[in-house]
Amino acid sequence: MAACGLDFGTSNTTLGIGIGGAPSLVPLEGAHRTLPSAIFFAPGREAQIGRAAIDAYVEGTPGRLMRALKSVLGSSLVEESTPVGRERIRFRDVIARYLTAVKARAEAEAGISLDAVVHGRPVHFVDDDPAADRKAEDTLRQIAESIGFRHVRFQYEPIAAALDYERTVRAEEIALIADIGGGTSDFSIVRLSPERHRRDDRVEDILANDGVRIGGTDFDRTLSLGAVMPLLGLGSPMKRGDLAVPNAYFHDLATWSSINRLYNPKTLREIDEVVRDAARPELVTRLRRVVEAERGHSLAMAVEGAKIATSDQGQGSVDLGWVEPALSANVDRPRLASHTDDLARRMAERIGRCLDQAGLSAERIDALFLTGGSTGLPHVRAALIATVPDARVVDGDTFGSVGLGLTLEAARLA
Ligand SMILES: Nc1ncnc2c1ncn2[C@@H]1O[C@H](COP(=O)(O)OP(=O)(O)OP(=O)(O)O)[C@@H](O)[C@H]1O
Ligand SMILES: [Mg+2]
Repeated sequence: MAACGLDFGTSNTTLGIGIGGAPSLVPLEGAHRTLPSAIFFAPGREAQIGRAAIDAYVEGTPGRLMRALKSVLGSSLVEESTPVGRERIRFRDVIARYLTAVKARAEAEAGISLDAVVHGRPVHFVDDDPAADRKAEDTLRQIAESIGFRHVRFQYEPIAAALDYERTVRAEEIALIADIGGGTSDFSIVRLSPERHRRDDRVEDILANDGVRIGGTDFDRTLSLGAVMPLLGLGSPMKRGDLAVPNAYFHDLATWSSINRLYNPKTLREIDEVVRDAARPELVTRLRRVVEAERGHSLAMAVEGAKIATSDQGQGSVDLGWVEPALSANVDRPRLASHTDDLARRMAERIGRCLDQAGLSAERIDALFLTGGSTGLPHVRAALIATVPDARVVDGDTFGSVGLGLTLEAARLA
C-alpha cells in the first residue's frame, strides 16, 4: 500500500510521501512543492491546474478560472453546477478533476501508484453546524474514493502541523498550534515530547481542538470591500431616493469563490440599469468593465498582492490602470488593520475557547507554533501572540508543516 498525505488547502495544495521514514513533499509544478488550488477550463482543451491555470487566465485565454474550491465544501453549492464553456460541471466534480490531476502528478513524479491517503481537514469546515461539517468531510471522502484512493483517513490540519513541529521538540511541552490559512484558522493545544512522538495513539495528548472559518481570503474580501470596491461604486448613491447602489455585485466580486457568478448576460443587463440610475455612473461603469471583461480574479489577485506587500513591506497598492487610466488604491498597515481588525479579533477569541476547552490558563502554554500563509499578517500575528504572551514563538514551515505532518501519519499507515 502506498500512502500519501494530502493537504488540499483553500489557497494551496501539497502532497507528501514518506519514504524511509522521512516525509517529503512531492514537487507538483516544476520544482514547486506547493500548488495553488486553482483550475482553469478552456473550451476544447484539457483543464490546467496551479500556476499554469492562473497564468492562462492572466494572459487572457478565454475560459473560466476557479479558486478557493474548498470554500464550497459544507455548503449546498457543492452539489450545484457551474457553467464551464458549453457544459455545466458540479463543484464536487470540479474538485475531483483538480485532485485527480494532483494525484497523477505526484504519482508520475514519485514513480509509484498511490492508493491510501491521509487527508487534511480544518477543525470546522463550517462554524456551528455539525451536520454540514460531517457532510463536507463525507463529500471529500467520496471524492477521494472516486479518484482511486482505496483507504481514506482524515486528520485535523493543526494536529498534522503539531506532528511536524514535534520532530524538533527536545523535552515535553504544551504547545498551542495555530494554522492560519486561506479559508480557516485552526488551533490545537497538544502535549508534545520526543517519547510521545513515537506513539500511535495520541488522543490523550490532544487537549483542545477548535477553529473558525476565517482565513486570508476573508482578509482579501474585507480589504477589497473597504479599499477598492468604493472606487467601483460601492456605497455611492442612486439618483433617486435614499438608496445606495445595490451591494450584492461588489460582495460577489470581492469573494474568490463567487466571482464567476457575475459572468452572465442577465447580471450585465442589471448592472447597465444600475449605471443608468446611479448618481455617480462613472463609478459603476468601472464595475461594469471588470465584469464584462471577466477580470474579477485579476482584481482579487491585485488585492491579495497588496495585502501581502503590506504585510511584508508595510505598504502596497492595487493598480487599477487597466480599469481606468491612473486608477489605483493604496494600502498601508493601519488601513489594512482598520478594515480587518475584527477578523483578527475573532481568531484570537477562538484561542480563548481553546484554552477553556483544555482547562488551561494562558501561562501554561510553553510554545506557540505558527504555520499557514496568513500568519504573515502582522496584526494577526500580534493578536495570536497576545493570547499567550509568555509562550515561546516558533515559526514553522509556513506552507509545508500541515502537509508534512499528514505525510508522517501516512508513513505510519504504510
Ligand atoms: N506574506 C504574507 N502575508 C500575508 N498573507 C499571506 C502571505 N503569504 C501568503 N498569504 C496568504 O496566506 C493564504 C494562504 O495560506 P495557506 O497556503 O496556508 O492556506 P491554505 O492551506 O491553502 O488554506 P486553508 O488551510 O485555510 O484551507 C492566502 O490567503 C494568502 O494571501
Ligand atoms: Mg492550510
